[in-house]
Amino acid sequence: MSHKRKVLVIFGGKSSEHEISRISAASVIKNIDTEKFEVAMLGITKEGKWLPYNGDVEMIPTGQWEELSLKSRVQVLGEKDNLINYLSDCKTNFSGIDNIDVVFPVLHGCNGEDGTIQGFFELASIPYVGCGVLGSALCMDKVYTKMVFEKIGIPQARHLHFTRKEIERDISQISDKIEAEFDYPVFVKPSNAGSSVGVSKASNKNELFRALNYASRYDKKVMVEEFINGREVECAVLGNDEPIASIVGEIVPSNDFYDYKAKYIDNKSKMIIPADLPKDTVEKVRDYAVKAFKALDCSGLSRVDFFVDKETDAVFINEINTMPGFTSISMYPALWEASGISYGELIERLIDLAVERYEDNKKQIND
Ligand SMILES: Nc1ncnc2c1ncn2[C@@H]1O[C@H](COP(=O)(O)OP(=O)(O)O)[C@@H](O)[C@H]1O
Ligand SMILES: [Mg+2]
Repeated sequence: MSHKRKVLVIFGGKSSEHEISRISAASVIKNIDTEKFEVAMLGITKEGKWLPYNGDVEMIPTGQWEELSLKSRVQVLGEKDNLINYLSDCKTNFSGIDNIDVVFPVLHGCNGEDGTIQGFFELASIPYVGCGVLGSALCMDKVYTKMVFEKIGIPQARHLHFTRKEIERDISQISDKIEAEFDYPVFVKPSNAGSSVGVSKASNKNELFRALNYASRYDKKVMVEEFINGREVECAVLGNDEPIASIVGEIVPSNDFYDYKAKYIDNKSKMIIPADLPKDTVEKVRDYAVKAFKALDCSGLSRVDFFVDKETDAVFINEINTMPGFTSISMYPALWEASGISYGELIERLIDLAVERYEDNKKQIND
């Protein structure tokens, strides 16, 4: 029998995207080629406890995995002592499986997609799927992402940003600055967040005050952007140093904008693949997607999101998601499916890319 590679799938996490991560992870586990891979599972609870799990995959989306894991648990990780033990342990003896070959962190948002857990894998010397520390951290912070977009000349919405302290000190002065720069409506967002959490559209001063206070509950840095009257268009990128772009898809949100409800709750937002756009617009989106991926030091995968102006078809880049939704019906895998790479094959490619980057990094002198 040939050697099966051992993949540790990590799911859950403390972020506001905990639930969607569990659904994505269950899809990954169910679709991984068991002829080639052996899967181990590790869940992170909303409170931040790390729990090895070896039960039924169906219990991951429902949340029942947690109770089952606690019942049969061998060790609880996540507290300082255990975490240090875990570091030295996880390559060799994790939940009964020797030698994890690669980790697949199906985690979204803070602590999962922002470079923190990626740093942990670097310290532990384990190959892992997705972007590294720098790419993850840059893409998580919208203000930094925008600095890089600007540097490489990709058009985007104009913006201003403020600290929570500045907002608390004198919100009227901040709103005057915003009104001097932009017409209403404006978009107000926490710089570090995801899933539209903390994002609002403000159409007058009152709403602006509320939006600034609301966003600053989620991050100490708040970004204000001009409104783009655009269609929402997404492109999947796959690869390391020579990434490729998928065909392009469009999201038609069920709400005024693509807020949390439109993303996850009402199930009425539509995904159109391929997006019905002029050929040169599609090529521009794909070209910008790859350029942005490279400039932000991404690797493995990312979904790059754009607005296409409803009147002029002008393309504006919005953001990069380094661990996009990965359920079998999510945009990222659906775009690859439509581009000729099946869900199962995509998982395998991502694992190969993780190992390839790890081997590549080993080539340099590190001290
Ligand atoms: N400048 C903007 N103009 C128009 N709509 C916007 C703008 N910024 C954000 N939106 C809307 O808000 C949604 C969430 O914003 P986004 O920046 O993508 O944050 P998140 O990381 O939470 O997805 C977008 O999908 C879009 O519907
Ligand atoms: Mg978004």
